[in-house]
Amino acid sequence: MRLPEVEDTVNGPFTMIWSLLLSLFASLTARSVVNGQTPAGLAPKAFLSLPLGTVKPAGWLYDQLVVQTNGLAGHEHDFYHYVSESDWIGGTSYYSSLEEAGSYWFNGMVPNGILLDDPTIQSQVQQFLDYVLDHQDSTGWLGPEVNTTKPRYLWGRYPFFFGAIQMVEANATLTDRVVTAFHKFVALANTMLHNGEGLEDWTRTRWEDFVIVLQWLYDFHPEGNEDLLIDTMKQLKYTGDPWEDVFNETYFPKTAVEDLRNPFPVLTWHGVNMAEGLKALPSTYRFTHNQSDIDAASKGWDLLFQYHGRPSGIYAADEYLAGLEAARGGSYLYQVIGDPKFADRVERITYNALPATLTGDMWSRQYLQQQNQIAAKNMTPNPFPEDGPYSNVFGLEPNYPCCTVNHPQGWPKFISNSFVTTPDQASLVQVYLGPYTVSTMLAATGNKVSVSVDTLYPFSDTLTTTIKATKAFTYYVRIPSWVTNGTISVNGGPSRPVSPTNGLHAVSVHAGTTEFTLDLPSEITIEERPHGSVAVHRGPLHYAFDISRSSRVLAQNAQQPLAVDLEFDATEAWQYAIDPSTLTFHTGTPAGGQLPSPIFDSGLPPFTISVAACPIDWAEGGNTFAAAPPTDPACTGAVTNITLSPFGSTKLRIGEFPTFKAT
Ligand SMILES: *[C@@H]1O[C@H](CO)[C@@H](O)[C@H](O)[C@H]1NC(C)=O
Ligand SMILES: *[C@@H]1O[C@H](CO)[C@@H](O)[C@H](O)[C@H]1NC(C)=O
Ligand SMILES: *[C@@H]1O[C@H](CO)[C@@H](O)[C@H](O)[C@H]1NC(C)=O
Ligand SMILES: *[C@@H]1O[C@H](CO)[C@@H](O)[C@H](O)[C@H]1NC(C)=O
Ligand SMILES: *[C@@H]1O[C@H](CO)[C@@H](O)[C@H](O)[C@H]1NC(C)=O
Ligand SMILES: *[C@@H]1O[C@H](CO)[C@@H](O)[C@H](O)[C@H]1NC(C)=O
Repeated sequence: MRLPEVEDTVNGPFTMIWSLLLSLFASLTARSVVNGQTPAGLAPKAFLSLPLGTVKPAGWLYDQLVVQTNGLAGHEHDFYHYVSESDWIGGTSYYSSLEEAGSYWFNGMVPNGILLDDPTIQSQVQQFLDYVLDHQDSTGWLGPEVNTTKPRYLWGRYPFFFGAIQMVEANATLTDRVVTAFHKFVALANTMLHNGEGLEDWTRTRWEDFVIVLQWLYDFHPEGNEDLLIDTMKQLKYTGDPWEDVFNETYFPKTAVEDLRNPFPVLTWHGVNMAEGLKALPSTYRFTHNQSDIDAASKGWDLLFQYHGRPSGIYAADEYLAGLEAARGGSYLYQVIGDPKFADRVERITYNALPATLTGDMWSRQYLQQQNQIAAKNMTPNPFPEDGPYSNVFGLEPNYPCCTVNHPQGWPKFISNSFVTTPDQASLVQVYLGPYTVSTMLAATGNKVSVSVDTLYPFSDTLTTTIKATKAFTYYVRIPSWVTNGTISVNGGPSRPVSPTNGLHAVSVHAGTTEFTLDLPSEITIEERPHGSVAVHRGPLHYAFDISRSSRVLAQNAQQPLAVDLEFDATEAWQYAIDPSTLTFHTGTPAGGQLPSPIFDSGLPPFTISVAACPIDWAEGGNTFAAAPPTDPACTGAVTNITLSPFGSTKLRIGEFPTFKAT
């Protein structure tokens, strides 16, 4: 029996989805199919990302990053063995066995430090960058496999490269050092790939990350090495896993995979790799210019969520794909391809699945998240075929340490990718809705622009945007697909219906100051789930019954007492059927117009939905997880009124309910 378990973790799927979005965005404007010939150069993206530091979080989103910094992410450098100074300075083991742990940490903490202007974190990542660059081997190798017999695999460096690129974006004085070191490494990697070296199973699945790094060099700092860069991209693809086949409907797994035979290398059905793989085809498109690569990426995305999607926005994988029983890449897909479906899903994942898998104070995280999660504890029996019984405990490193070092990249990268420019660099586009400030120069016209978005979104339907510009231009804002009767009022004028094209509404901005207010309401919607159960959504938020919980400390880190492993148990009944016809949305007004800090914990968000419910018989699987929702259950007691809360604020929950009809 498979329960609504979801992998989650921020890290894997989340990260992947981001890249997906980026890729997809680009294809909209960027198609140039060349008949039968290999085109020269890289195809342009649909949208261009902005350098790190251009977009800053404001309001509750700023606070969310403060919570992350005051939590586990901001303290790892002080005590966590994979990244702490005592380990990596000295050059022995700042990466884990695949040499990736320090690299992951660096990739997330670079933007965390810049977006908060946090000098402590900025100096930690500067020290890391200096150490790695100063110890580059004479052959060009970067990383700890120097003067040892340890084999050199390429993959563990890729997150480090992403972090270094972000440091260059934020501080141009680092450009020469980083770009010189990269080119030296690329020359070595190209030779290694031609000799069949540097490859193991993870490198073969995650080749697209290196392709994206090479494309950054090509776009901004090619230094005459264009041919070598393109040849290296092709070598990576030819030696890597065939994602166009993995995402082909003929072979794509339509159920949980543990009883299926994978015709491709086994790691291609691994949850996190699949999210990485979503970036492969848009990144391939840029050097093939082949529309089929874009089509395959878009189709693969749809298949993944059709057969493995969860109401929280993410798809399910407990290590490997988990089917339907109760993802970062996305931003890259959006930027390459431009289809708004990628942006809608990234927003849903960020505002639901991501915060749900961390405690409110962000000191403890899970490895696996369940859609119906009635306890978080060491599970007997264990519902996860490929992961350990400890996987849904909230702690320092349940099941694997990877998400401890990788989860911090989620919020910062969501923020820095929330605005892009059009390829002509004349327009600014707000992709993800939330509170931000932006300060940039639109290069095409030398237009100095600043933007401030004041909102509690997704805990409000209203966004007020103030733009100051030295020249007139067209500003675009994404209108999510779930908005109904959305309106815009410009400079205090009358409210008019929004009229998005391809998900974007255009606003004419004049020189000087322009202010506009968006009102973006949405209806409550019902998603049908297995066994006749339903999930409830309104706008970007998924709603769940928040089961009250008791908490017990299972373990405490010796160096850092705030790093605890927590077991949660339900302290109230959770066995309810709901009557969807009675769902009613309620909005509270937060005190002083401010959301509480942190926001993602029980009872804190101002939005709730009430619904008529009745108690039912609903079995437990073992004594730790809910069995599949019963179909058409009988009420065993009186009808009552229960409250549903935003999924991200729940740590124990029912997110997929059986239904009944209240009379
Ligand atoms: C490797 O060993 C050589 C010879 O001892 C030394 O000069 C060099 O600095 C070492 N390289 C690194 C990166 O430690
Ligand atoms: C930029 O990097 C240089 C070289 O590492 C450093 O000296 C400088 O302080 C950095 N500037 C900022 C604003 O961080
Ligand atoms: C998917 O695979 C099948 C079987 O190999 C093949 O016939 C088909 O052309 C492939 N589809 C695409 C879109 O490549
Ligand atoms: C484009 O993709 C199709 C389908 O995968 C393939 O048959 C064709 O050779 C590709 N063309 C180029 C120029 O890469
Ligand atoms: C949209 O407008 C219709 C017609 O006025 C109304 O019935 C419906 O409730 C509105 N929906 C939302 C979400 O405001
Ligand atoms: C259910 O509870 C909500 C919130 O407490 C309340 O506003 C609503 O009126 C109640 N509905 C019924 C039918 O009692």
